[in-house]
Amino acid sequence: MLDKVKELIGDVQSFKTTSKEEIEVFKIKYLGSKGLLKDLFNEFKTVDASLKKDLGQALNNLRNAASDKVQELNEALEEQTETKSIYGDLTRPSEAIELGSRHPISIVRNRIIEVFSKIGFTVSEGPEIEDDWHNFTALNLPEYHPARDMQDTFFIEQNPDILLRTHTSSVQVRYMEENQPPIRTISPGRVFRNEDISSRSHCIFHQVEGLYIDTDVSFADLKQTLLYFTKEMFGKSKIRLRPSYFPFTEPSAEVDIYWGLETEIDHKITKGTGWLEIMGCGMVDPNVLKNANIDSEKYTGYAFGMGIERIAMLLYQIPDIRMFYENDVRFLEQFKSVL
Ligand code: PHE
Repeated sequence: MLDKVKELIGDVQSFKTTSKEEIEVFKIKYLGSKGLLKDLFNEFKTVDASLKKDLGQALNNLRNAASDKVQELNEALEEQTETKSIYGDLTRPSEAIELGSRHPISIVRNRIIEVFSKIGFTVSEGPEIEDDWHNFTALNLPEYHPARDMQDTFFIEQNPDILLRTHTSSVQVRYMEENQPPIRTISPGRVFRNEDISSRSHCIFHQVEGLYIDTDVSFADLKQTLLYFTKEMFGKSKIRLRPSYFPFTEPSAEVDIYWGLETEIDHKITKGTGWLEIMGCGMVDPNVLKNANIDSEKYTGYAFGMGIERIAMLLYQIPDIRMFYENDVRFLEQFKSVL
């Protein structure tokens, strides 16, 4: 019996755990009211008196070893939880993370890019501060051309003129100067016009302009692209092309989409007609191709340009363009998107 008790002391001393439950099981096994020690002390009563001294000592040692062990393990456990507790309770459920949202202008811009990239358009970008050549002259708008007044300009320097670009057609000029046809590119970006601010227009806004140049490009190709775009973007493709004028395209047109008159906002943004002008377009004027060193005998192309704000207003039924720039979180947090 003495050997058995000594063996048990060895077991007790080498016992290790970090689990609260296992400590409890250990405690009950040795020290519990129906535990091993209880049995051993009962057995002790029956042993020969000559053996009692050594065995009694060994049993006491076993009991002390077991209760020391329980204390030691519990202390270690507490210490561990204390170190963890500088982070708080690691098992508690976390607080919900506040998800940011994209600006509606970015959502719509990304959507337009997605629609055009499906039919092979790449994205090109250029500077917001432009020279006269790329914003005006190369686009068939020489100095003193009356059509320059169509886009009131913020000038930064004069002679030579440096200005804030009034459209991203300037990026297309840069793109043509560096690439030969076939060209399929869209240019999204911020543009600036010296205009009065109202619910429908602002002095800073965003555009996406597109350019397609190849052999045998016709107005029918342009129209087909517009139908594809409006269908993808709005789910509707009732459009009309109104003859118009832009110096860099000939013939030129403005594109209206039939939106309907279902809500009060529809009435407001379509001025009660149900139709909304969404972009300008046309066949690239041969002069523009020549200015960018593209053979205008061999190649033809179409171009179009649209305002992102106007499209976002339509899609999200936003009644006032100024809301885009106020950065009011109550407005912004309504736009959750993965795009
Ligand atoms: N650049 C024109 C604008 O800003 C839009 C446009 C682009 C029109 C291409 C025709 C062709 O108003």
